[in-house]
Amino acid sequence: MTFDRSFPDGFIWGTATASYQIEGAVAEDGRTPSIWDTFSRTPGKVFGGDTGDIACDHYHRMPEDVALMRSLGVDAYRFSVSWSRVLPDGTGRVNQQGLDFYSRLVDTLLDNGIRPFVTLYHWDLPQVLDDRGGWLTREVADWFTEYASLVSGALGDRVRNWTTLNEPWCSSFLSYSLGHHAPGHTDPLEGLVAAHHLLLAHGRGVRAIRDSAPGAEVSITLNPTQVYGPEDGDEADADAVRRADNIYNGVFFSPLFAGRYPDGFHDDTAHLSDHSYIGDGDLVEISTPLDNLGVNNYFPTRVRAARDGERGTPELAGMERVVGVEPRPPHTDMGWEVLPRGHYDILIRSAKESGLPIYITENGSAWPDVVSPDGRVHDPDRIAYLHGHLDAVADAIEDGADIRGYFAWSLLDNFEWAYGYSKRFGIVYVDYATQERIVKDSGWEYARIIREQR
Ligand code: FCB
Repeated sequence: MTFDRSFPDGFIWGTATASYQIEGAVAEDGRTPSIWDTFSRTPGKVFGGDTGDIACDHYHRMPEDVALMRSLGVDAYRFSVSWSRVLPDGTGRVNQQGLDFYSRLVDTLLDNGIRPFVTLYHWDLPQVLDDRGGWLTREVADWFTEYASLVSGALGDRVRNWTTLNEPWCSSFLSYSLGHHAPGHTDPLEGLVAAHHLLLAHGRGVRAIRDSAPGAEVSITLNPTQVYGPEDGDEADADAVRRADNIYNGVFFSPLFAGRYPDGFHDDTAHLSDHSYIGDGDLVEISTPLDNLGVNNYFPTRVRAARDGERGTPELAGMERVVGVEPRPPHTDMGWEVLPRGHYDILIRSAKESGLPIYITENGSAWPDVVSPDGRVHDPDRIAYLHGHLDAVADAIEDGADIRGYFAWSLLDNFEWAYGYSKRFGIVYVDYATQERIVKDSGWEYARIIREQR
């Protein structure tokens, strides 16, 4: 087991989680339900009927979890704030107990020499705001701005790194067009509208954070994916790649970094909308300059053109004649293709599109982990994935991408959204019956790599 690449001085080694996936305590100290509480209680939406009610019980075990991070030697911890914990009505009334939890978390991290990276929105919209239209209404941009001001005002004296949104692709297309995530709608146009309102909320949120927390480094985390067509593809396949790339990547890259929607995008989606949901001046707000870009990437995407009469992917705007191609082996427990080269390609692309320093805010893999008779969790596949992807990161840095840090997803096994607790991404194993944490072999290997880089 060797890994001998070296990373630039000051490279940040971190680990990441998200509020609904680990906190539990969903009805404590004034928190109200989010769309994920509702969705996970809706029969058939989450594997096994799992919910985040208890999750990793992190809300009660926070000091222990920070101690665990310290034992691994990480430099930084990326976590998200539960909107409905701090603003139980979505807007207006502030829940100080909720804010205090995050304030204690930040202090505990700093006491342990761990730098906090705060994400404001990792998919858990207050249910009361979904009842008022959620991401389909323009007003959500103002609700988010109020929330961003509140949290950055409360923690900005100690937190430098701020991320507005985690993976807006998932909170728009996966949630409003494909129906796999809360609120579970299945309308190709709604995905477009939600994506635009997420972007608008982001742009206004950036300004709000800078106003309340001078000196903040502000970012957004996208989940771009390298799109590959068939090696021997024809013109129709090339067009399929272009369309898929627009809806997976361009729909966020172009508005954020070029102040416009990608070429062809409006024509490709004209049958769904006249795009009047895009207001005058929106793209100026959306393209407010950022300090860095967060990239979450796990796997590449393969597509080809639909052939006569074949069904494409009408659920995603502009993909009516695009067919998803089976991922190639090897696969993780999610069925996701393991391709470090795809990670390299998307890092180079993200650096070029944004012109910004990049943090890999998530990368990792799920495997069917078990506790061995020796009491340990042996996860060679996760170690191989980690080595392969860190190799790709080192290559991308050598080839000019300004990559400043890597956050392993995830610190803990946790509530993996629609898959419930059936998929384990942690570098630390969680026994959900006892809440015991066991550092996996990959966790110790990550700790070793971090030590060697110092
Ligand atoms: C990302 C999410 C994260 C986790 C990983 C596996 O899309 O941001 O919460 O579920 O995938």
